[in-house]
Amino acid sequence: YVKHPSIDGEYPVIGHITQELFNSAVNYKPDPSDLFIASYPKNGTTWLMNIIHLIKTNGVPLGKGQCLDDVIPFLEFEGGEVIKRAQKPRTIKTHLFYDMTPHNPDAKYVFVARNPKDVVVSFYYHTVGFDEHYKFKNGTFDDYFGVFLSGGCDSGDYFKMVPEWFKKSQERKNIHFMLYEDMKKDVRSEILKLAEFLDDSYQQSLLENDEELLNKVIEFSSFKKMQKDSKDGVFCPEIRPADLPFVRKGITGDWKTHLSRDQSERIDQRLAEAGRLYPGFDQLWSEYDGL
Ligand code: A3P
Repeated sequence: YVKHPSIDGEYPVIGHITQELFNSAVNYKPDPSDLFIASYPKNGTTWLMNIIHLIKTNGVPLGKGQCLDDVIPFLEFEGGEVIKRAQKPRTIKTHLFYDMTPHNPDAKYVFVARNPKDVVVSFYYHTVGFDEHYKFKNGTFDDYFGVFLSGGCDSGDYFKMVPEWFKKSQERKNIHFMLYEDMKKDVRSEILKLAEFLDDSYQQSLLENDEELLNKVIEFSSFKKMQKDSKDGVFCPEIRPADLPFVRKGITGDWKTHLSRDQSERIDQRLAEAGRLYPGFDQLWSEYDGL
């Protein structure tokens, strides 16, 4: 846990992130050329990182022994000093709340959100497989569900973080808000919209509808390819149990076989509350079955 002036009490972070590392992350001064990939964990961050990496490299995928986290450093994991030393233009991953994230009006921010019911399922399988996630090594899904709703998971409360970023994305041109479900439905048009937002030299060929490049980006970031690559350590350097891979199932609606009716209704209530505070947030998934 760490402290930050924008929140009361403590903020839960991943195991080894000390207060000192956290402070250096939130005090990082972004360069106008920086691109941040922001998200709540398990919302499709790695998929989006890979898409952005493929766009930047004109469709050259990472190979064996290369790790996505090395080319797109994780702000609060590495600390601000490490990011400062990275070559520009930088792409930086973060799971910070909006108010904690280093801002620069000229830097760009892409935020990806996924429906909370699938997030809690995905987060459970992620957490239960890691030693460093304190008591959850052998915890049950029901235990985990309670922690998720109370905002106790690593990176804090989904129902604070995601709606806040959504609201800010409506107010600021330098934030591009994406949905995991939209990517699942039509990744091609989501990639083109993203390229339009990024809009600088290395995206020009995509914007000009270079079908070959677009197809490479889609193919190399497909679930199948990423699942295979993740076994070679491309996406997650941590050692994970074989039955709990990082690139796990990659579907929408997995919650239907995990959440009880009561749990599903409790999330509906939280979404409705969030919608009252952040208009439109509760409607984001209205076209998708079951939310
Ligand atoms: P599941 O656990 O539901 O399978 P993050 O990168 O933010 O931690 O998100 C991880 C989730 O994204 C996992 O969800 C993972 O399987 C999914 N994912 C990773 N790569 C994907 C891809 N290429 N297509 C679809 N989903 C993907």
